Amino acid sequence: MRKKMTLSAIKKTKGVRPLVMITAYDALFASLFEQSADILLVGDSLNMSFAGKPDTLSATMDQMLYHTNAVCIGAKESFVICDMPFGTYITKEIALQNAIRVFRETPADCVKIEGGADKAEIVQYLTSNAIAVCGHIGLLPQSLRSEGGYKVKGKTEEESQQLIKDAQAIEAAGAFCIVIEGVKAEVATAVAEAVNVPVVGIGAGNGVDGQVLVFSDMLGFFEAFTPKFVKKYLDGASLVKEAVEKYADEVKSREFPQEIHTY
Ligand code: KIV
Repeated sequence: MRKKMTLSAIKKTKGVRPLVMITAYDALFASLFEQSADILLVGDSLNMSFAGKPDTLSATMDQMLYHTNAVCIGAKESFVICDMPFGTYITKEIALQNAIRVFRETPADCVKIEGGADKAEIVQYLTSNAIAVCGHIGLLPQSLRSEGGYKVKGKTEEESQQLIKDAQAIEAAGAFCIVIEGVKAEVATAVAEAVNVPVVGIGAGNGVDGQVLVFSDMLGFFEAFTPKFVKKYLDGASLVKEAVEKYADEVKSREFPQEIHTY
């Protein structure tokens, strides 16, 4: 069984080996991911994967706390990030109130907030109040409506320079790690090179300090579409459907339960 990583152990992976991060929303899957992942992210993507909503925007603090507790119960030796949902860090005071709820009501190790230089003051306020923060820059799913869609970043020189400034600003504010999403690979690599904390990518190429994927995407449970950056390591949806179909057939034919399943 692996030992839970500390914040400083996570930072020290920079330049040594890539970090492995995966989302988790419940105790059962978290316990299965624990042995291979360095970090479990209770992402607000659970609003889509778990709750079936079209985007992350309606996720609530209570929902995040519920799922974070479940993940922490299932994977006691994992470093766990609780995502702060949309609207829960609009001022530094509101951010601190909500982040304190995460620390009081769950054993999560840190929170994650979306945004770059514009959120540096909030990150600084949290970290100076003993809340560990993971940043999230690039494509920001919580900005879906204000940006008019999910937009890959780093396509222009101006955007690329801004991403570097964003990463440096939140590093200076005390973030120990930064997720970078939906960014041209060479730009994400330049961002990773511009800071001393690990930069973990999703749809950001192979030159960063680690990778994160949404578990339902990488295990093939989500059938509607597969984003370009996702590799499916399992055909989960087909396996589950086949198994449940077999169960249904056996129930109907009375092949199940057999003697060995009977008291
Ligand atoms: O909510 C989430 O799962 C995330 C990942 C996409 C990084 O923030």
